[in-house]
Amino acid sequence: MTLVDQFGRVATDLRVSLTDRCNLRCSYCMPAEGLAWLPRRELLTDDEVVRLCRIAVQQLGVRQVRLTGGEPLLRPGLVDIVTRLSGLSPRPELALTTNGIGLARLAGPLRAAGLDRVNVSLDTLRPDRFETLAHRRRLPDVLAGITAAAEAGMTPVKINTVLLRELNEDEAPDLLDFALQHRLELRFIEQMPLDAQHGWRRDRMVTADEILAWLSTRHRLSPDDRERGSAPAQTWLVDGGPARVGIIASVTRPFCGDCDRTRLTADGQVRSCLFSRDEADLRGALRDGASDDELAQAWRTAMWGKAPGHAINDPSFLQPARPMSAIGG
Ligand code: GTP
Ligand code: 5AD
Ligand code: SF4
Repeated sequence: MTLVDQFGRVATDLRVSLTDRCNLRCSYCMPAEGLAWLPRRELLTDDEVVRLCRIAVQQLGVRQVRLTGGEPLLRPGLVDIVTRLSGLSPRPELALTTNGIGLARLAGPLRAAGLDRVNVSLDTLRPDRFETLAHRRRLPDVLAGITAAAEAGMTPVKINTVLLRELNEDEAPDLLDFALQHRLELRFIEQMPLDAQHGWRRDRMVTADEILAWLSTRHRLSPDDRERGSAPAQTWLVDGGPARVGIIASVTRPFCGDCDRTRLTADGQVRSCLFSRDEADLRGALRDGASDDELAQAWRTAMWGKAPGHAINDPSFLQPARPMSAIGG
């Protein structure tokens, strides 16, 4: 049995948030003072994470598990969780989305534990801007993390860049050159209304068209005719290829019709969508003694009710109550 919704989409990609905490304070995500983190007892334990992933893989047709946060490298049991997930049968593809801090130390152990792929956030190459954007002076750690991930063999390392108007948008061509030079797969992301401060404004968002215009000041981009499938990034060939750059245009070119995702928050709630208004409490059921079959059924029911799309472009759109750091990126 698969996780199918009433529009016929099948979720095979599970995104698991391992913590809502983060060691950066990116302004498009959370305020400089941080947030009220979830109390420890509300987080799924390592055993609970592994059990729910096993159910997803063995009973619900999930083929890829991506670990996210907050910042997943802050989770003390991370390497052990990866080891246990890579021992599942059938073995899911294992990926991680991280801000890169701590990856210099953890890339080798994570690779050895079975991690297949890693996506790292990098919004600027300039230390002063990094501090303005993320309120911390950690750019060298991020760059060291990217290098370590590539050296550990998790290639191609993907880079996620959120562009903000008048802050880092002019750096798009420099970031692309950096990615080309280091053989990284760069994707620019349109900012979404998922920040804790609820400060997103449509007219402040750097759109896919604007990103293409910035890149075209230095490079010739042409459409890539590779099959996109359910990938959020639309890719472009750079100067005729084979190098590529991606744009994740969640707002101006939504891809919800091809969505293959299901989400588990760090406190054990299933979300059918980043923008869902409701959650299904698997942690409660699990701690009340639910069987694997009961948990699988609760997960299926939650996914059946998935909305057709995020509705960001509807006049009546309401941002979800929880921010992206709590939902999982
Ligand atoms: P790959 O399989 O490596 O392509 O991963 P990914 O791009 O799905 O994952 P990643 O965690 O790197 O996410 C990159 C960005 O895609 C996130 O910052 C989001 O902006 C966006 N994204 C991820 N999942 C979703 C989703 O379900 N819906 C929307 N609208 N955007 C998403
Ligand atoms: N809009 C778009 N992307 C975001 N990210 C975090 N918050 C937002 C947002 N509001 C990005 C991070 C990271 C990825 C998981 O999501 O930069 O790369
Ligand atoms: Fe899927 Fe929701 Fe993301 Fe759209 S916004 S791609 S439906 S998770």
